[in-house]
This record gives sequence, C-alpha cells and structure tokens, in this order.
Amino acid sequence: MGIHFDSGAGLFTLETAHTSYHMQVDERGHLLHLYYGRRIGQGCLSTLYPPADHGFSPDYYPNRRDRGVSPDVLPQEYTGCNVGDFRLGCLVARDEHGAAGADFLYVSHTIRPGKYALNDLPAAHDEEEEAETLIVCLKDAVTGLELELLYGVFARQDVITRAARLRNGGSAPLRLEKAASLCLDLPFGQWDLIHFHGRHAMERQMQRAPLTNAIHTVSSTRGASSHHHNPFVILCDRSATEDAGLCYGVMLVYSGSHRTDIEVDQNGSTRLVSGLHDQGFCWYLQPGESFETPEALLCCAPDGLGALSRRYHRFIRHNICRGVWRFARRPVLINNWEATYFHFDTETICRIAEKAASLGVEMLVLDDGWFGKRDDDNSGLGDWYVNENKLPGGLNPLIERINALGMKFGIWIEPEMVSEDSDLYRAHPDWAFTLPGRAPAMGRDQLVLDMGRPEVVDHLTDVLSDLLRRHHIEYVKWDMNRNMSDVYSRALPPERQGEAAHRYMLGVYRLLNRLTIAFPHVLFEGCAGGGGRFDAGMLAYFPQIWCSDNTDAIERLTIQHGTSFGYPVSAVGAHVSACPNHQTGRNTPLWTRAVVAMSGTFGYELDLGRLTDEECRQVKEQIAAFKRYYDVIQNGQYYRLSDPSREPRYVAWQTVTDSEALLNLVLTRPEGNARPLHLCLRGLEEDALYCVDTMRLYGTTVTPEVHSVQAGISEGAVYSGSTLMYAGCTLPQLSGDYPSVQLHLTRVTNH
Ligand code: GLA
Repeated sequence: MGIHFDSGAGLFTLETAHTSYHMQVDERGHLLHLYYGRRIGQGCLSTLYPPADHGFSPDYYPNRRDRGVSPDVLPQEYTGCNVGDFRLGCLVARDEHGAAGADFLYVSHTIRPGKYALNDLPAAHDEEEEAETLIVCLKDAVTGLELELLYGVFARQDVITRAARLRNGGSAPLRLEKAASLCLDLPFGQWDLIHFHGRHAMERQMQRAPLTNAIHTVSSTRGASSHHHNPFVILCDRSATEDAGLCYGVMLVYSGSHRTDIEVDQNGSTRLVSGLHDQGFCWYLQPGESFETPEALLCCAPDGLGALSRRYHRFIRHNICRGVWRFARRPVLINNWEATYFHFDTETICRIAEKAASLGVEMLVLDDGWFGKRDDDNSGLGDWYVNENKLPGGLNPLIERINALGMKFGIWIEPEMVSEDSDLYRAHPDWAFTLPGRAPAMGRDQLVLDMGRPEVVDHLTDVLSDLLRRHHIEYVKWDMNRNMSDVYSRALPPERQGEAAHRYMLGVYRLLNRLTIAFPHVLFEGCAGGGGRFDAGMLAYFPQIWCSDNTDAIERLTIQHGTSFGYPVSAVGAHVSACPNHQTGRNTPLWTRAVVAMSGTFGYELDLGRLTDEECRQVKEQIAAFKRYYDVIQNGQYYRLSDPSREPRYVAWQTVTDSEALLNLVLTRPEGNARPLHLCLRGLEEDALYCVDTMRLYGTTVTPEVHSVQAGISEGAVYSGSTLMYAGCTLPQLSGDYPSVQLHLTRVTNH
C-alpha cells in the first residue's frame, strides 16, 4: 500500500486497501492518467491506450506526421488549456497578450509521509498518521505557469485527496479564468451519475440516472455550496447496488460556488472535472504569486454504495472534523425558534428551559432575535449586542438561570450578513456586496458582507470573541440566510473583481479558524437556512450542521437518506418539532418524529409547555432511548435498507456495532390488505446470535389483538446474524399515519 514511483517507466502507483490509482509521465512529459479502480497492484497499463488516429482530434506537434497521439483522446491527469483537448478542461490561463494557453510537462515530484496542508482552505488532516503525500510538479514552458498536483493517500480508508497549486513562475502577470481541483478520466465503462439536488427546506434529494453522451453539470453559482446541488457526486456501475458494484465518489471540501461536469465523449470515455465554479471567476497572478484550489476527496469503493458511504462517514469524522466535539456526545438540546420565532423575553425562554430540564434536555439554544433591533427579519443583523428590551440586564442573567437548571446555554448568530437597518451598515455601507449604481437584489431583506476584506474579518473576530468571552456560551449556531448576488468588492481593483466570491470564502474560513482555535470547547453547529451549506468545508469547523429547515419527519426521511450518502449521522442536525408541522402542516406521531431525529444530533424545537402529560412522558422516554442507543447510532456502521425513490411504502435504515444493532423503519404509505413488511438486516456477524431486546411500535393503529395474530419478529427472540441478513425478518403489521418501528438487537454470543 502507499505511493510508488517506477522511475524507468515514469509510473506512479497509489495503492489503498482496495483500490489502485495509476499515472504515467509519457515520452513527451505529459502526465497521463492510466487507471483508478479495484486494486490491481503495480505494472504499466500504457498498452491500454495505443496510438489511434481520430478524425478531428489534433495530434501533439511532434506527432503531426505519425499521428494518433492526441491530447483529445489520451486520459489526462489535469488538462492543459487550448492545446488540442476539446473535452472538459481544468483551467483557463491567459497571459499578458490575451493568449489563453498552457501545456504542462513533468518537472519533478516528491513523496513523503503525512498529509499536505493547504494554506488558506480547509483540508483533510492526518492525526492518525496514516497518510502519504505525493506532489507532482509540472510546468508550462511558455508562460512559466507551474502546476503542483497534490495527492494525499489514506491507504487504509481507500480515500485519495487531491488539490492543485498554480504558481506564476514567469515574468508577466497571468489571469486564471478557471482553475479546477481535479480531472478524473474513466476511459472505459458505462456509469450512472448520482447527485443530490434540492431547494430550501428540501435538500439533498438523491437522483440517479445513466450518463449519456453529453455534459452533465452539478453546480452552484450562489456563493454557497447550496441547498440546490451538493458538492458531492457519485459515478457507479450501472448495476451497482447498496452491496455491490464499483462506485466512485468525488466530494469537494468547499462551501462556495462549485461546479462538477461529467462528459461522455466521442469515444464513450468519461471525464469528470470538479472544483470552483468558473462563472464570474478570474484570479490575477502576479509573477511569484500562487493560487490553491479547494481539495476534493476521492473514494473508490468496489463493493457498492453502502460501503462508499461508510468510507466517507469515517473519513469525515476522523479526517475532516476537528476538535473536542467530533467524537463527544452532543447535548440533547431545545431550540426556541419554532416555539417562539422572534417573540420572546427572558421569562418565556426560562419557562421553556425549565420544562425542558425536567424532561432530561441538556442545553437551551436561544435562536434568532436576541440582539440589536430584531423583532422580525428586516433589521438588526450585524449588531451583535444584546437587545435589552427582550432580555433585561443582558444575556448573563438568563444564562445563569439556564445553568442553574443544570443546562448548557447556546446561541444563534449570522455573522456574514448585515441588515440595511443596522448600526453596522450605517457605519460601514461599503462592507456589503453591492454593485456600483444599482439597487441590490435583497434576500430576506439582508446584504452579504464582503468577507474578503481583512477589516471585516477582524471586526467579526473581535465582536464574536467578545461575545464568547463575556458569556458562558457553550454552543453556537452559525447561520447564513441568503445567497450571494451583486458580488462586487469596494476594496478590490477592477481587474481583481473576479476574485471577490472566492475571497469571501477564504475570509469565512479565516474567521472560523480563528474562533474555533480560540474557543476550542464551544460546540459550533453550521446552518444556512437549514442545509444550504452542508459540505465538507464547513464540517472542518462545525462537527454538525442543521440539516434542513424542514422538520417534518416524513420529508426528513428523504433529506436524511440523501445526506447519508456522503455525510455521517454525527453531522446531521435533527430535531423533534411540533405538529401540525410548521413547514408542511402534516401530523406525525411524536415517537416517529423522535425515531427520525435520533438519526442525527437529536434535540427538540417546539413549545414543550403545550405538550400533554402523556407526551411529556414520551419525550422523557425518547431522550433516555437516545442516550441508551447513542453508541450504536453515532458510532455504528450505517446501512440504508430502502430506496425511497423505488419503495414508496416505507423508509428503513440500520446502524450496527460489534455488540448491537438498531433497526429503524417509518411507514410512509399505509395500504389496505398490505403484504407484510419484510427486511434483510445488514452488517451483522453471520455466526453470531442476536437477541431482539427491545421492539417498539409507535403510532400504529392496529390493535394488540391484531398484533398477536400478525406478529412477525418479536421481543426476546434470538436469531443468528445469517438468518437476519439472508432470510430476513418480517415485521408486525403497521397501519395508520406514519407509524414507526425501532428494533434494538444485542449480540448475545457466537454460535
Ligand atoms: C434559518 C435557520 C433556522 C432559524 C432561522 C432564524 O432559517 O435555518 O433554523 O435559525 O434562520 O432566523
């Protein structure tokens, strides 16, 4: 395993536990991509690509007479620019004459233990000392543009990280009009594309379709990774399932505008290019200056979609998330947003907290509305000092009362934004993005701060540090509630305006870096109108992200299903909210809401004072169940047991550790005269025995008499792992609106 270089053949091999990645420096010095897939060991694969003359595919100049050696046909590791490869390109580099061109030839390489770091961008880390780094240096002779291709090989985990560093090694300025993170050529095979699209309050809906001979684009131009297209795609065998088939994942560690294109070319070869979105992008490189692209996490799983997801889950928890909270149990919280919206005072919040404390809730989160002039969403953003009309005497008296209940205190902020009606905007109107001479498009009646300006980041560092230093705040919900338009920085010269959107993200990361280092014990939860910035870049600072503003348990099933392809349960902010649900008006059983929220960080977001005694008893029981099942939920291996796009009746999923398993199922469509629900469990030890120690049926309207007639699996029964996985289990008959089943199995012993 690890990185090998065969100097005779100019061959690089990156070997992980189950995969191999081959590249070769050809006789002209171009770096060709030869293979990425199931592990094959070393050995040169260049005979896979014999010379072949394709009409209208130009040859390299030295091959103009013998022909058949075309940049348009050979698989590339990172493309040049405007030099004969008509497929998707990685970059556009323009020199002082206006000429766009780059043809990169190998110069040198280094291989070393450990993982490379990026200067200003979040990237995977290697605290477990597993990784090796390969840096291949190439150069364009005409402009002097240097390209470093960075590879971080996490062999045990089958993850390879990639990024590119471009340096102007010439004597004249250059403009980068596109700079992707990577190119991945898959010359053979036919693939399905899986991606995660959506909208506000309906994020990460999984969609799978065969690639056709066209260019498929998954992108965001919103200045945020977005609710609309997550920066994560999967290419898989047409026949790939949860348990079998070759799958490739490409996930960007970036939270701004992004773009992944996948092209199936004239020869049926597939190329994927992924990185920053190039719309409106232009980065000016003076001689000696460098530009780093965001990192991408590549994972290849020869054993199906479930295995691919589990590799990403582990990698994100261990190698992207940082700090004390990434493995720690997060407090069960109550958030006041859906309980009060903007209308609260100290007494209202304390009443909610008292009730919550009596039911076992561990933290109160004070959401939007506690600061500045903020009685609705038209004013106040930017003024991060307490609104004493609502909270007389400030935050400290409130926090003391919350702490006296034995609860932690957390708070909501939205630092990247400013309201026109705010002291901050009145003092610094030039700190917001607006176009000269135009009224800006408004989102939620607020403007976006120009986070690329160092003085804005310094101001926010001071204000937020002060807030955290003066108060006993143990959790911060960091929100971002509009997308970026009118992108124009009053601080940049005209030729650098194309840098503003990316500089914004660099400023956000700088601020987050400072705060998370200065306040290591604060638990940060990311948020962007729910899951509008649910990405690996944010997870480098926030171990959890509010998954969606949609708290309807049934809608959450598909949102969390889609999210689970790339992201671990520990990252998914999920709450039980009131019924009728505030987004959909739907009623669901209280327990079903809890079963769904338990596959996340778990908390409540409703006025607990309105619950009946029976409901309060259930809440207590839910919190106890969450704590009891915590290890298997958060640290277990995650298995999707259903595909909501194919099975409209139910959604089921399971987590499993060495000693226990938890099966969850929510019935989404009751049917008359229904066939029994049958499931095969996964991830168990074939020879081990498992006892069903708890089986809870929630919200079903079927009477106990009917149960006894129609009982399938039941409490106390013992089965072997192979029986549960291959013969499966039949669940008791469920009916009514959205009942759920939660089945806890304990491993008893081996056969
Ligand atoms: C966003 C968040 C919500 C809530 C509101 C407050 O929409 O996603 O959870 O915090 O802002 O304004």
